[in-house]
Amino acid sequence: MARLRNIPGSRDRISESGFCINEPEQYKGRWKEVFGNNRPIHVEIGMGKGRFIMEQAKRNPDINYIGIEMYSSVLVRAIEKAEEREAEGQDVSNFRFIRMNAEELGNVFEKGELCRIYLNFSDPWPKDRHAKRRLTSDRFLELYYGLMDDGTVIEFKTDNKELFDYSVGTAKESKWKLMAYTYDLYSEPDMLDGNVATEYEEKFTAKGNRICKMILEK
Ligand SMILES: C[S@@+](CC[C@H](N)C(=O)[O-])C[C@H]1O[C@@H](n2cnc3c(N)ncnc32)[C@H](O)[C@@H]1O
Repeated sequence: MARLRNIPGSRDRISESGFCINEPEQYKGRWKEVFGNNRPIHVEIGMGKGRFIMEQAKRNPDINYIGIEMYSSVLVRAIEKAEEREAEGQDVSNFRFIRMNAEELGNVFEKGELCRIYLNFSDPWPKDRHAKRRLTSDRFLELYYGLMDDGTVIEFKTDNKELFDYSVGTAKESKWKLMAYTYDLYSEPDMLDGNVATEYEEKFTAKGNRICKMILEK
């Protein structure tokens, strides 16, 4: 209920924020205009409070980033963090947020507009009857495949071994090429190189959980 009560105020905050793109369907095929340049666009689906996407944006000024989050109350936390970065004088021009469900990706992005998708600590939906909601389900992998061009990449991290086993399985069954995967990211220097830890990743590594990661390429 607390989350529900938060929503009305959060929605206003989102629609007034310059960091958020409202009515994102309007930009389908025109996302380069949003950023005012031709740089590649990377998205994180289910960004939570946005630490990962904003840190990536800071480290890679030649890439534009879009963080997608379906809950208003969570997205507001990302807006607050973005405003803090802006107040500190950081360059905040190469990232934006969208409040939307990943189900809508095909209404918001034209084929070829996204170069990379990050899925970090996606909700596990442990019940079999909810499997289709997992962001690495066959249905979602097919959706991403149809939206992306050859050579594009998906990176997925989680500490949930069951979800990871499932995701390696759906990836192998899909048209995506499974380029690399590990059940212990922090013991693989090659895969850890350049890693940006997410909020959940910091929490779980501090608890001693192993982090799994896989990389898919079209
Ligand atoms: C467990 S959190 C992880 C947050 C962040 N990526 C991290 O690693 O710290 C998963 C987030 O994904 C969001 N999410 C789950 N399913 C989604 C969907 N279908 N579309 C958009 N966001 C989604 C949830 O609201 C939640 O904030």
